[in-house]
Amino acid sequence: MARRRPLIAGNWKMFNTGPQAAELASRLRSLVSDVTHVDIMVAPPFTALGIVAEILKGSAIRLGGQNLFWEPEGAYTGEVSARMLKAAGCSHVIIGHSERRQYFGETNASVNWKIKAALLGDLIPVMCVGESDAEREADQTFSVVQQQLEEGIKGLGADEVQGFTIAYEPVWAIGTGKTATEDQAQEVHEFIRARIEAACGNSIANDLRILYGGSVKPGNIAGLMAMDDIDGALVGGASLDAESFAAIVRGSLDA
Ligand code: PGA
Repeated sequence: MARRRPLIAGNWKMFNTGPQAAELASRLRSLVSDVTHVDIMVAPPFTALGIVAEILKGSAIRLGGQNLFWEPEGAYTGEVSARMLKAAGCSHVIIGHSERRQYFGETNASVNWKIKAALLGDLIPVMCVGESDAEREADQTFSVVQQQLEEGIKGLGADEVQGFTIAYEPVWAIGTGKTATEDQAQEVHEFIRARIEAACGNSIANDLRILYGGSVKPGNIAGLMAMDDIDGALVGGASLDAESFAAIVRGSLDA
């Protein structure tokens, strides 16, 4: 049984116009209004942040960006800074999602710069790590995750890592319907916690929230949350349906 307060985060990816996002946010708000023992965050696309922030005002649901650029401002067409996310009402930002690594050229180095910018901008980074199918087949899961972690937190002090959330998302489980088994997820979560302990000490590692992501559904959340080192979930597809996402939020307490 996980010992940290759960965080269930919804990554809406490139789905929902402003009006659609507003409808989803208000349905979700009413469905989870009585939930007090789970932290909840949603990350709509940039164009919907303002309207979703309005709808969630006064609720316990937190808002996140799906990405940021590391410069505070400037001539960077198409980019959004930490300060802009903060001003839009965000408390969190997802960094280094595998889709960003795969389609938009993100590297461990750019993830590191973005994490530093998020922390400077008073945003909680949700740093994503995870191996591809080929890497798992080649027995490289732990070495890939270790390198993503080490390079992602390079140059950061333990007090900065304290402000983090990490999401383990095996690339082969994202959007595929293939969830890692509870044991497969737990062993990588345990490994991540051990690496953070080696880098930052026992108490920071113990408090660190490590989310699992990859085809999380109402039916598999309780089993995942029953594992010692799984502290919540980063949910893609199932977060686009208010009832499913609310069921995952509730299910996270059933472990
Ligand atoms: P999924 O996505 O839940 O649709 O597999 C998870 C993610 O990409 O964060």
